[in-house]
Amino acid sequence: MSTIEKAVTKLNRDNNARTEERGQQPSPHHQTGKDLNSQQGLGGHAEQRDTSVHTVQLDLAMLEKNNFVSLSKERRLINEEYRVIKRKLINNAFGALSKTLQHPNLILVSSSRPGEGKTFSSINLALSIALEQDKTVLLVDADVLRPNVSKTLNISHDLGLTDYLQSTDVTVPDILLSTNIERLKIITAGSPHHLSTELLASERMSQLVNEFATRYSDRIVIFDAPPLLGVNETAVMAAMCGQAVVVVEENRTRLAEIEQSVSLLPKEMAVGFLINKAHRNQGKGYGYGYYYGAS
Ligand SMILES: Nc1ncnc2c1ncn2[C@@H]1O[C@H](COP(=O)(O)OP(=O)(O)OP(=O)(O)O)[C@@H](O)[C@H]1O
Ligand SMILES: [Mg+2]
Repeated sequence: MSTIEKAVTKLNRDNNARTEERGQQPSPHHQTGKDLNSQQGLGGHAEQRDTSVHTVQLDLAMLEKNNFVSLSKERRLINEEYRVIKRKLINNAFGALSKTLQHPNLILVSSSRPGEGKTFSSINLALSIALEQDKTVLLVDADVLRPNVSKTLNISHDLGLTDYLQSTDVTVPDILLSTNIERLKIITAGSPHHLSTELLASERMSQLVNEFATRYSDRIVIFDAPPLLGVNETAVMAAMCGQAVVVVEENRTRLAEIEQSVSLLPKEMAVGFLINKAHRNQGKGYGYGYYYGAS
């Protein structure tokens, strides 16, 4: 058994035990759009909050060429792989387990160390979920130290997450970007700030995240977060989310690092591993595969 398989097995065992302790509820429960629309959000902007003023154009052909999940009808392996992963996350967010999680629709994507594929995975998950007919997705670049979502998607906008977090003059509509993909919205990381990571653990962040969790009943929010090891705020952010996807780079991430990362995550959250860059089709070049082991 590989080290990653061992870690997945151990985590599944722990999670199953926790689910049994909590007593799983048989039916999903989440608020209706009506309930949520009647809620007042931060600063009293309420319903017009999401009529975002700004729109960015994603170059879908470029994304497809760079082997991201494709929105065309063509059947591609990566779409199939992400469909499996996404299904588990959506089930956790809206299915039976959702009642046992706080903010099950908020998903933190992190890894032990930099460069293991968090941004690549976050974007693919967001694209894959945006393909669902009845779900919307908000992708937030919360990796404020290495803000690569906008770079990878080749988009730019003056105001992002850190700008919102450091100034009450900046509102959610100022940072929320609509895209040419109907069900996908994006928030970029914002201007570099000497307290960037500290801002992620701030009260204003917690309020914003809370608003994301409750505003729309059909929305999944994906946070492309900093690594867990060495950035204390990532664990603080994790505590605001119901689910975590820990990206593990096959043949690189060490078991001790995976265990250490998982130990930093709150016990109550649903945790899955996404094994990135798995070798496949030996002799036919280097392929990528994904295994998602969630509770
Ligand atoms: N499965 C994959 N297939 C193809 N390219 C990949 C894959 N995973 C990652 N990459 C590429 O590897 C590089 C690092 O990935 P990525 O930027 O997603 O990692 P990260 O964990 O977000 O890094 P950082 O910690 O710097 O933010 C990028 O150029 C990305 O496009
Ligand atoms: Mg990144």
